[in-house]
Amino acid sequence: MNRKKIKFLVSSGPTRERIDAVRFISNRSSGRMGNAIAEAAREAGCDVTLVSGPVSIAPPEGVEVVGVESAADMAREIRARASGADVVVMAAAVADFRPVRLVEGKLKKDSVEGPLTLELERTEDILESLGGERGADGPLLVGFAAEMERLEENASEKLRRKNLDWIVANDVSGNEGGFASERNAAIMLSRDGNRMEFPLMAKRELAKRVVDAILLDIRR
Ligand code: CTP
Repeated sequence: MNRKKIKFLVSSGPTRERIDAVRFISNRSSGRMGNAIAEAAREAGCDVTLVSGPVSIAPPEGVEVVGVESAADMAREIRARASGADVVVMAAAVADFRPVRLVEGKLKKDSVEGPLTLELERTEDILESLGGERGADGPLLVGFAAEMERLEENASEKLRRKNLDWIVANDVSGNEGGFASERNAAIMLSRDGNRMEFPLMAKRELAKRVVDAILLDIRR
């Protein structure tokens, strides 16, 4: 019998929040973890859409790619597709703050007297919005948590606050694992109290384990 293809919507990479025509605020996300999730899902036979912030690595083959720049762009593109997906995996490092004002053209240093103050405002928490609005037949929601301390407590607090099904928590305080690294270790927690611990391994291998856990949950 032919199983219906499971639809994955995956976000990846950083976002960029513009200060002026040439400057922005961003973060160190490489897009490796999100891209690896997209690739693992495709290899498992799923339909995959990857919504990616600006990254320097190539997207995996065989997935639909939607390029975005800011947190607001990412929110719009995820929202437009979330209700048609079976799973939403937010692996992107979405900016939590953006400049309140966009300076027109290029900010000239001589136009600033004394220290330059950038006023920042919160961006929308995309996952929290999806979690807050979810109905009975909404997609499975999977978040990531990059933590420097109290990994498990912080991750399970995020799982509850954002009303997620799963959270993948990784420790970004050390040299190995996290943002720029090829490898990662993680703990995966579910709303039903499942807990999996993955030791330091290649992000592609970790992605495969994460996707396997999600697929098992969906097919239950
Ligand atoms: N996320 C999101 N929208 C945002 C910020 C984060 O959807 N504006 C998602 C990320 O993609 C990730 C999860 O939320 O899946 C966790 O993000 P993180 O920044 O680690 O946690 P926060 O909840 O923002 O808390 P804090 O930064 O205070 O640790």
